[in-house]
Amino acid sequence: MSNRTGQALYKRAKTIIPGGTQLLSKRPEMFLPENWPAYYQRARGAQVWDLDGNMYYDMTHNGVGACVLGAADPDVEEAVIAAVKAGSMSTLNPPEEVELAELLCELHPWAEMVRFGRCGGEAMAIAVRIARACTGRDKVAFCGYHGWHDWYLAANLAEDHALDGHLLPGLQPAGVPRGLMGTALPFHYNHLDELEAIVNQHGRELAAVVMEPIRNIEPVPGFLEGVRRVCDRIGAVLVIDEISAGFRLTTGGAHLVYGLEPDMAVFAKAMSNGYPMAAIIGKREVMEAAQSTFISSTYWTERVGPAAALATIRKHRRCNVPQHLQRIGQMVRDGWRVAAERAGLPIQIGGMVPMSHFAIDGEQSQIAITLFTQLMLEKGFLAGRAFYATYAHQEQIVEGYLQATEEAFSAIARGLERGTMGEMLKGPVAHTGFARLN
Ligand SMILES: Cc1ncc(COP(=O)(O)O)c(C=O)c1O
Repeated sequence: MSNRTGQALYKRAKTIIPGGTQLLSKRPEMFLPENWPAYYQRARGAQVWDLDGNMYYDMTHNGVGACVLGAADPDVEEAVIAAVKAGSMSTLNPPEEVELAELLCELHPWAEMVRFGRCGGEAMAIAVRIARACTGRDKVAFCGYHGWHDWYLAANLAEDHALDGHLLPGLQPAGVPRGLMGTALPFHYNHLDELEAIVNQHGRELAAVVMEPIRNIEPVPGFLEGVRRVCDRIGAVLVIDEISAGFRLTTGGAHLVYGLEPDMAVFAKAMSNGYPMAAIIGKREVMEAAQSTFISSTYWTERVGPAAALATIRKHRRCNVPQHLQRIGQMVRDGWRVAAERAGLPIQIGGMVPMSHFAIDGEQSQIAITLFTQLMLEKGFLAGRAFYATYAHQEQIVEGYLQATEEAFSAIARGLERGTMGEMLKGPVAHTGFARLN
């Protein structure tokens, strides 16, 4: 069956929506320019149907990491429908938000207070505002990606306009006030020496150190403890971004697994399985600073988000979802490795087991991954360089995916050998995204 309807709609979208989509990672060009199905009619579990009714297994991001239980999870759906029927908005507040705050503090015993937002980047901006309000300082040291807001994109402002954007390629800071230059100071994960260098120069001007607990690589011994010590020494707030890492390794933040005690942690995405919800949890003395500034928004008071989060977290805990994610993630990684060995294709595998990715080595790496996506799509899989495991991925689905992967890897290896990969592609090569400061 053809899958052209989505591409036709995407052409219209680009004439009326700048960039075509609301999220860089959902641009069809990031996967398979001119041939990605682009839009979905419906999604359930690990399955998604495009506008022409083709069904695919989602072996990519599953809602960019949001659908940790799988799309349209029935338990979350039931809670959301009940919230909708009870009225999602009113002059009064939804009681679910108090229940959710208590549950998050129960899961993270170091945390005593909670604020809510609805999106990840927004919640990070709230956390940074609270940290700045709490310390009365402006500067932030960070590593990793934390969203689109000014406090973060300021890292990409340079004294020379021509160099704007050089630090995090793909994230352009036009429109970010130049006055913020020098307020977001980058260091690399696992490089305590780089953080120490920032502290030597800016020490008591630092409001916060902001980072993910883990992303692509394991923390080296002493790194997380070192970051904690630095924050204690200079009185900076340690903000841990759990927007992607949270609810993958355990029910709650990955920092729990690594024994790291932050001052604030931020959740979104997987916490509510596809319904907008975000939480900023923290120690009382830090969180109370939210009262000394203005942080307030109408739709932060709606009912669906907290209802979805409560249902998601409860199911996550009840069904030991992290164990499933680990098993499925490991199965996929092992399958990639075996398929690559059989095909003689050099690949590198990275990421947390439940959020794994691979890269095909060599100069033609981007062509090769585009071809992989094309070949897999033809076999009924949404697939690319990354796989985010969900509770809905059963072994049978993974087995089918790995069988198709073996065939795709050997076709790519043949194409590489014969120099015919370009001809095998039915459209342009996929675009690369932005670079994280890992
Ligand atoms: C670690 C991290 N922080 C922040 C964000 C931004 O979250 P959102 O896209 O919900 O604004 C993301 C999204 O990919 C993320 O992975």
